[in-house]
Amino acid sequence: TGHTALDYGFVNTAATTSAITYIDGDKGILRYRGYPIEQLAQNSTYLEVAWLLLYGELPTPDELAAFDDRIRRHTLLHEDLKRFFSALPHTAHPMSVLSSAVSALSTYYERESDPANPEFVELNTIRMLAKLPVIAAYAHKKSIGQAFLYPDNSLGFVDNFLKLNFGVLSEPYEVNPVMSRALERLLILHEDHEQNASTSTVRLVGSTGANQFSSISAGINALYGPLHGGANEAVLDMLARIRESGESVQRFVERVKNKEDGVKLMGFGHRVYKNYDPRAKLVKESADEVLRELGVHDPLLDLAKELEEIALEDDYFKERRLYPNVDFYTGVIYKAMGFPTRMFTVLFAIGRLPGWLAQWREAVNDPHSKIGRPQQLYVGSPERNYPGTA
Ligand code: CMC
Repeated sequence: TGHTALDYGFVNTAATTSAITYIDGDKGILRYRGYPIEQLAQNSTYLEVAWLLLYGELPTPDELAAFDDRIRRHTLLHEDLKRFFSALPHTAHPMSVLSSAVSALSTYYERESDPANPEFVELNTIRMLAKLPVIAAYAHKKSIGQAFLYPDNSLGFVDNFLKLNFGVLSEPYEVNPVMSRALERLLILHEDHEQNASTSTVRLVGSTGANQFSSISAGINALYGPLHGGANEAVLDMLARIRESGESVQRFVERVKNKEDGVKLMGFGHRVYKNYDPRAKLVKESADEVLRELGVHDPLLDLAKELEEIALEDDYFKERRLYPNVDFYTGVIYKAMGFPTRMFTVLFAIGRLPGWLAQWREAVNDPHSKIGRPQQLYVGSPERNYPGTA
């Protein structure tokens, strides 16, 4: 093993080349296919960015319209798959429901899932983009005991999703344009983030020849953890706990610094961004605006700002270059929209799906790609004999 370098957490090792997303963590730069995230968040749509990530260029208006239309025609879930939800407890975490249902989706398309067939790959890309939001909304409805709605394909991607979540059977539903645009922007900000833990998982699973459903379902499970996408839920829980306990923000920060019970400031810190997460900047900017437009005042937003202010002034955070990441302010906005806390990471998953699909394709089509197989440095016992054999 003389040539094997030990790199816990892949801090220094690149496992692939990629032409999809560029990040400069010191300068706080994030670009998809060369386009700055700020411009995309301001001007683009979820589906347009999905196309960009998948195919490398912005779509023409005709290409985008055809893509949108095709996705609308694939939103229905098989009725049997709808029954799958009733087999799970209503207390189930929506992220577990999501990954299980995506895994189960694979069983409906077994004969069309060969990853080496480009037509199938294309079809399953559309299927995943169309059905993940529906599955997500059903996970939400299930958790609150409400009936599932059928997708309304007269609506665009985000509006359809909002209706599936907040519409009630047999009652008209009016999409709030402020909410729709705000959610679209948040989804765009999450669409890709190069080789993070869930994307690396998708690539690794894909490297074995597994199909898109299996690979994405693995990615969803990786995203679930509180150090990754699960942080947006954890941030809100943290803010709510601080508020309920009446503990001062200063005292909470002290406990974080002393690493009491391993408590961390959730939504802070990033492996790559050592300056400021450009996504967090955009989310923070829109948090005030969205809450105001939705007519919501949430003391948890004030608490989050106070926490940020205190942390940014503190040597512990300065020395370690810890800044708010994308998950710090998103939860407050999702909450204002009416999503339960346990749906937050599901929203992240819908956002990230185009990136996972694009990265899976890039990996599968890369002529240099091989099965992912990390090395280890063995530190266990040397050879020894089973009792009675020597
Ligand atoms: N609160 C308190 N201390 C922290 C935090 C935090 N949020 N993050 C890092 N540190 C400390 C850490 O304890 C270590 O200190 P020391 O040198 O004294 O041991 C130092 O900063 C370096 O941290 P690290 O854990 O070696 O950094 P990493 O690159 O391995 O971890 C991270 C990155 C995001 C997992 C980590 O910062 C963290 O746990 N943050 C909280 C969870 C979170 O917000 N995750 C969302 C990440 S962004 C979007 C996403 O992926 O979903």
